[in-house]
Amino acid sequence: HSYMNESIMKKAVEKNIIEVNIYNIRDFSTNKHKKVDDYPFGGGAGMVMTPQPIYDTYKHIIETHNIKNPRVVYLTPKGKVHNQSIAQNFSQLDDVIFLCGHYEGIDQRIIDLIVTDEISIGDYVLTGGELPALILIDSISRLIPGVLGQNESFEEESFKDNLLEYPHYTRPREFMNLEVPSVLLSGNHKNIDKWRYEESIKITKERRPDLYKKACK
Ligand code: ADE
Repeated sequence: HSYMNESIMKKAVEKNIIEVNIYNIRDFSTNKHKKVDDYPFGGGAGMVMTPQPIYDTYKHIIETHNIKNPRVVYLTPKGKVHNQSIAQNFSQLDDVIFLCGHYEGIDQRIIDLIVTDEISIGDYVLTGGELPALILIDSISRLIPGVLGQNESFEEESFKDNLLEYPHYTRPREFMNLEVPSVLLSGNHKNIDKWRYEESIKITKERRPDLYKKACK
């Protein structure tokens, strides 16, 4: 995918920190027309992805990459909503298989047989799981040591300790009559840390009372 050939993700691939392989399940269909979907048993609108091509793609992946206990993530609005701690957990793993659905869904037996995690990227519906998979890959990859450089640190950022980030300022000291808060120019790091922490609390309370409750725990 072209997203993997840009910027930080491209560098991570070039540095051999991450590797992304894309498989088209149609290539694994044993049907003479390379069919990968069929009508739903019980009737109703839409099509359902058949189990055979997905299962054979999965077998191919775990065999060619010698994956022992595969984690298979199915991207679906029915899944657990993605967050920073899920990204953190996945960043510790050697291999992750992302299964992207299309049409109405995939045959439940695939979920029962091979899927270990069902993840949603939010309460809205997309046409397929490809963008959600990229979002997961991006959010996971940037937590792997070496992917981000010195200037893109994730030590202090939103969702750390369930707080949103404080505001940032750079040169010039005055822009369109707006001044940088004087504490940031003071050189007093105790006061700067205190100001940033208070700003984080303030904005989290205001915008994300749900996060703020967790931050207080
Ligand atoms: N596929 C379609 N919509 C989705 C969503 N919100 N999250 C994950 N996968 C999806």
